Amino acid sequence: MFWVYEDGEDLSRAAAGIFVEQARQAVASRGRFAVALSGGHTPQRTYELLASDTFRERVPWERVHIFWGDERCVPKEDPRSNALMAWQALLQHVPIPEEQVHPIQCISDSRGAAETYAEELQKFFGENTPRFDLVFLGLGDDGHTASLFPYSSVLQEEQRWASFVHLPEEDIQRVTLTAKTINNARMIVFLVQGAGKARILNQVLKGPREPMLLPAQLIRPSAGELHWILDQAAAEGIPGNAYRTSDDL
Ligand code: 6PG
Repeated sequence: MFWVYEDGEDLSRAAAGIFVEQARQAVASRGRFAVALSGGHTPQRTYELLASDTFRERVPWERVHIFWGDERCVPKEDPRSNALMAWQALLQHVPIPEEQVHPIQCISDSRGAAETYAEELQKFFGENTPRFDLVFLGLGDDGHTASLFPYSSVLQEEQRWASFVHLPEEDIQRVTLTAKTINNARMIVFLVQGAGKARILNQVLKGPREPMLLPAQLIRPSAGELHWILDQAAAEGIPGNAYRTSDDL
């Protein structure tokens, strides 16, 4: 389902609204809410809104468990850390118990970090493939999502829940949830903003299926909902089947 909003602010309010709604529903039916956050610039405003007076009180934080879709293996205080961004924009401002925040910890090498993260997932979800209540994702200019990059071997991973990734052009390593894990979520929400994303978005949604080239095409929930939350600039050429302004939220 596509939701097209006027601008980044409205898109962020919509995403914060989804977080609130899914958290309340999950807690009402299963007693807890497990969400995987995305890095990148787009979700930052959503996280800030969730920490604001308008949204903060509506989330049952004592039942929320925060995970991440991917992480760069950098020191905790490095500005490239997805956990740091979420901490600064959201987590330090809300009453979430510390033990319910599950960052991807790259203490050793990234291969070890991916295994440690998979163990953390197993402790929380049990033996079966993790079933997140909500996964936020972004879309990179090259069609990547989380740290599932074009032509990387992780795209073919069908067993592991999390994997390490090394891109030849980067001096750091990464850890990512695999498509298998993401696709098992109850709800997956892509947040895509800005005119710079229109071309790749059209390719991912309307072009031929080439998941090695366009990894975002791998994301197809096996038994869940998929939503694309777009701003008008990114949605150029994509027929939105819904248009809401922030006043409707
Ligand atoms: C990251 C991501 C990555 C991101 C996209 C889109 O850690 O950077 O998880 O997949 O979501 O690159 O990023 P923007 O929101 O900055 O466009």
